[in-house]
Amino acid sequence: MFNELWKKRIRLIEDEILLELNKTETIDQTLMDAMKYSLMSGGKRVRPILLMAAADAVNGSGSKFLTTASAIEMIHTYSLIHDDLPAMDNDDYRRGKLTNHKVYGEAMAILAGDALLTLAFEVMLRQRGVNHASILFVIDEISKAIGTAGMVGGQAIDILSEGKKLDLETLRKMHIGKTGALFRAAVKSGAILAGASSKQIEALGKYADSFGLVFQITDDILDVVGDEKTFGKPIGSDERNHKSTYVTLTSLDEAKRLANEAKDEAIENLSIFGAEADFLRELVQFLLVRKI
Ligand code: IPE
Ligand code: IPE
Ligand code: MG
Ligand code: MG
Ligand code: MG
Repeated sequence: MFNELWKKRIRLIEDEILLELNKTETIDQTLMDAMKYSLMSGGKRVRPILLMAAADAVNGSGSKFLTTASAIEMIHTYSLIHDDLPAMDNDDYRRGKLTNHKVYGEAMAILAGDALLTLAFEVMLRQRGVNHASILFVIDEISKAIGTAGMVGGQAIDILSEGKKLDLETLRKMHIGKTGALFRAAVKSGAILAGASSKQIEALGKYADSFGLVFQITDDILDVVGDEKTFGKPIGSDERNHKSTYVTLTSLDEAKRLANEAKDEAIENLSIFGAEADFLRELVQFLLVRKI
């Protein structure tokens, strides 16, 4: 059931992304091709799925918000294109395919990332079926989550920490920023669009914080013990770039224990919801056994 629903949602999200791209004017086709290359190269679509699942937990309205969900995936894809650049992690493979700069060159990869980030805001404003105040609330959440206080801030800590040993508290701050903030924004956006109460929004936000931590700890683990073909990106990238991760700062076993602890916290934060939040519960449990 969980897997089927996941696959069904991936299809819905990918159809929506293509629809939004078709509505978008461009004065240069190579730029649009580069954007589409990374957007449509696969991926688990976890962030848009979380947005939909959070709306479902509130009142079953998940599929009404595909537009905003697809915008979140555009932001995520921009972050990956830039993350793989030679000046950042210098990785050649992503989602089992050559990275954007390997196909289109560094300059076009930077521009494709810029354009995806910009397009995401245009797309967020295309969301129908909700009042303007909710859309503004969502844009406020998302823009704060991906800027200096969130994703880009976390990426800055990541880059500046190369070759240094971070303390665990700074590592946690980095993870919450570079990875957790967008998950939090996705979940909160789904809740806001569905008209959730502030108590529900707060609980879902806390769920997402723990979810983000589990997600990035398992990403760090898979960077060491994953299978390159299944994981779709190079194994050992963190070691090559002298990054601090949960695995290097603690141990493989301790990282697994911390991920498990954060998973329990995530589920505890859903206690005010009934079966309508089961997909969110299953999603965070999946992270502990994921190979992709
Ligand atoms: C990778 O995210 C970047 C991190 C935050 C660790 P995902 O693992 O969600 O990547 P895709 O979208 O499925 O390829
Ligand atoms: C990337 O973290 C986080 C963002 C792109 C914001 P990583 O550098 O660990 O992600 P992967 O392992 O390359 O996907
Ligand atoms: Mg990185
Ligand atoms: Mg990387
Ligand atoms: Mg990684």
